[in-house]
Amino acid sequence: MPIGSNTKQAAELLGQGDLVAIPTETVYGLAANAYNPEAVLKIFQAKQRPAFDPLIVHVHGPEQAMEVADLRGLGEDMRRQAEALMARFWPGPLTLVLPKAKHVPDLVTSGLDTVAVRTPAHPMTLALLRSLEFPLAAPSANPFGYISPTTAQHVADQLGGKVPYILDGGPCTVGVESTIIGWDAQLRHWVLYRPGGLPVEEVEAVIGTVGRASRSVLPASPGMLESHYAPRKPVHIGNIAELMLEHAGKRIGAITFRNRYAVHALEVLSPQGDLAEAARHLFAALRRLDAGAAELIVAEIFPQEGLGAAINDRLKRAAARRDPRAIAS
Ligand code: TXA
Ligand code: MG
Repeated sequence: MPIGSNTKQAAELLGQGDLVAIPTETVYGLAANAYNPEAVLKIFQAKQRPAFDPLIVHVHGPEQAMEVADLRGLGEDMRRQAEALMARFWPGPLTLVLPKAKHVPDLVTSGLDTVAVRTPAHPMTLALLRSLEFPLAAPSANPFGYISPTTAQHVADQLGGKVPYILDGGPCTVGVESTIIGWDAQLRHWVLYRPGGLPVEEVEAVIGTVGRASRSVLPASPGMLESHYAPRKPVHIGNIAELMLEHAGKRIGAITFRNRYAVHALEVLSPQGDLAEAARHLFAALRRLDAGAAELIVAEIFPQEGLGAAINDRLKRAAARRDPRAIAS
């Protein structure tokens, strides 16, 4: 199994245009040289990801971000806000969607004139990025539409045969993907494209109110695809006691925040009631239930604050695979 902690070997493979799975604080990424379209194409092939879904470019800091983004021509206020966000939250689980520099290949951004960029907070991957002369394009290292990996073994289980090397940095400490916000040039304000590992309240404390994207203003934001992050089994969200009645006689796997229920398989995400701990455990719990003997998965609605917003978002998308109406517009 090509799993290890040799960043030199990872750098060599990336330098010759191969893929490497990398640890980040959010989820594992499937990385390639962002400036090499042939290498980037391998990401889409390995994940079976549609080419209309753009990738996040990982950089070692603000300076390299300015190499992939082009903030000229934008207002002074917006530029200052982008810089303030980078200074405050990087390295960390915040992705910024900014106007793209010309030399970033269209394949990376799916032809959009914007690029998503972030600096991940993982020592191994930061060291790797600093040793390279190019940034890394990397989506989550899962087959398209499935649950994101939060351990090296998760990556090996599903993409093992397609990735020459998996850099093992231990289990992810945040456990849900980064928060994505972008500057909407038409609306002239910041918009939340995806709730994630950084509570949007913390972003708003720095730059003021961030608009909430609906699909009507964001037709080109595949991160908002309904059926994403989904296990193979049907997922239902709501009141667990009611769902148990509704599905009486079936083997139920349940995901809860801190409460216990007499079901076939129970995953309590945080007995202490800590939303950050719950987020860290979410994807591994979904995978265990998907792999076990339960026939369906039921999940509670989490408090819609802090990391609870990202947990609820992922659970809704997981449920949407079977029931597209589960997502209110
Ligand atoms: O935490 C994360 O963000 C992880 C780690 C590996 O960094 N990456 C990740 O990548 O979640 P991915 O590809 O699974 O999700 C990135 C999302 C996609 O849904 C894509 O639609 C959105 O970012 N995105 C990328 N570029 C964009 C752009 N220019 N405009 C709007 N959305 C964009
Ligand atoms: Mg993903």
